[in-house]
Amino acid sequence: MKLMRSGHRGAISSLRRTSVRFHAKLLDSAAMTDDALSLLAAGASEPGDLAVEGSLRPRTLDEYIGQREVKASLDVLLQAARGRGEAADHVLLYGPPGLGKTTLATIIARELGVNVRYTSGPAVERAGDLAAILTALDERDVLFIDEIHRLNRAVEEILYPAMEDFALDVMIGKGPSARSLRLSLKPFTVVGATTRAGRISGPLRDRFGMTYRLDFYGEDDLTSIVERSARILGVEVDADAARLIAKRGRGTPRIVNRLLRRVRDHAEVHGDGRIHVQAVAEAMTILDIDDLGLDTTDRKLLAAIVQKFGSGPVGVQALAAVLAEEADTIEDVYEPYLLRLGFLDRTPQGRIATEPARQHLAALGFDVPAPRRAEPEMPALWDDLPAG
Ligand SMILES: Nc1ncnc2c1ncn2[C@@H]1O[C@H](COP(=O)(O)OP(=O)(O)O)[C@@H](O)[C@H]1O
Ligand SMILES: [Mg+2]
Repeated sequence: MKLMRSGHRGAISSLRRTSVRFHAKLLDSAAMTDDALSLLAAGASEPGDLAVEGSLRPRTLDEYIGQREVKASLDVLLQAARGRGEAADHVLLYGPPGLGKTTLATIIARELGVNVRYTSGPAVERAGDLAAILTALDERDVLFIDEIHRLNRAVEEILYPAMEDFALDVMIGKGPSARSLRLSLKPFTVVGATTRAGRISGPLRDRFGMTYRLDFYGEDDLTSIVERSARILGVEVDADAARLIAKRGRGTPRIVNRLLRRVRDHAEVHGDGRIHVQAVAEAMTILDIDDLGLDTTDRKLLAAIVQKFGSGPVGVQALAAVLAEEADTIEDVYEPYLLRLGFLDRTPQGRIATEPARQHLAALGFDVPAPRRAEPEMPALWDDLPAG
C-alpha cells in the first residue's frame, strides 16, 4: 500500500512518496449499508448487486480514482493521525449517491489500520443503541454513519459529547434521585456521509474537523474506473467502448459499473463477450439510456416540467406527485445530475427546465410547448435608433 509521508505536516507540495505496508484488520463489508439504487437511480437493487459492488470497491487511497483534492487532503490528515498514534479527526463526506462515500470511509479505516463499524441514521433509533455502539468501539476505530442527516434528535445529543470529549453522559436512576454520570470512551473517529450537507444540524456539522464534498467524476476518471472494473471482472473492453460507457455514466462510478455489467451481459449473449462500441450502443438502446446518460425517469421528470408546468417554475412536491416519486428521491437522486448538466435551474419559486433541456427533449421527439414563464423582454429601443 502506498502512502504519502511528509516531514512538514499540511504541506501537500512537499510530500514524498514511499511505500509503507501494514495490515488493516478485517473489514466487515457484508454489514455495509448502501443506497438501494437500480441501474441508474432509485429502485430495488438486484440480488448479487451489492456483492459485485463490494468486489469493485477500491481498498486504498491509491486505488481510489479521481477526487484528487479530497484524496490529497485526506492523505495528510490520515498520515498525521497515524504519525501521532491518535484517532483521526472526524470526517464528513457529502455528495450525490454512488460517488464513493462508503468506499472512502472503508479506505480511511484501512489506511489507519483500524476497524470500521458501519451504521446509518435511520438504523440508530434510540440513544441507547448509539451508546451500545460507542462503548463497543476500540481505540482509534472508525464509526461510519451513513445518511447521518437522518439521525434523530435524541441520538444526536448523545453524539455531541462523544465526538467532542469522547464522553458518554448516562442518566442513572429515576425521579429525584436521578443523576447523570459521565463515562469516558476510547478516542475514535466518526466518518459521516450524507447526500445533502444542508440537512445536517449546525451543532453536528461543527463537530467534524474536516468536511469533503465529492463531486461528479470527469470522463477520463470514469473511463479509468470502467477499465479497472473490467480488469477485475475479467472482461475485455475496447478503449473507445470504455469511454462510451463513461460518457453515459452520469459522472457516477456506481452507474458506470452497473452499465459495464449490463453491457457485458449483452456482449456475452449477442457477441463473443468482448466489449466494443457497437455492443455498448446496442445495450444503451435496450436500456433506454440516451446520449447524455439520461434514463426514462430523468426524461419523464423533464417532460413533466415542460409539458405539465409550462417549463416551470414548479415546486418539488408537485413534481413528486405527478411522477409518483418521493420528493427526497427527486432531490437526492435525479436532480443533482440534471442541475450539473444545466438542464434544471433551482429558483426560490421552484424548478425550471432550461432551454438546453427543452432542446434535448425536442430532439428526442417530445412535445415541447412554449414556456409559461414570461421571458423578460428586451426593450425595442435599439430598433428605433436612426441608422448611421
Ligand atoms: N473513486 C473511485 N474509484 C473507483 N471506483 C469507485 C470510486 N468511487 C466509487 N467507486 C465505485 O462505485 C461504487 C459505489 O461507491 P459507494 O462508495 O458505495 O458510493 P456512495 O457511498 O457515495 O453512494 C463502489 O462499489 C465502487 O466500486
Ligand atoms: Mg454509500
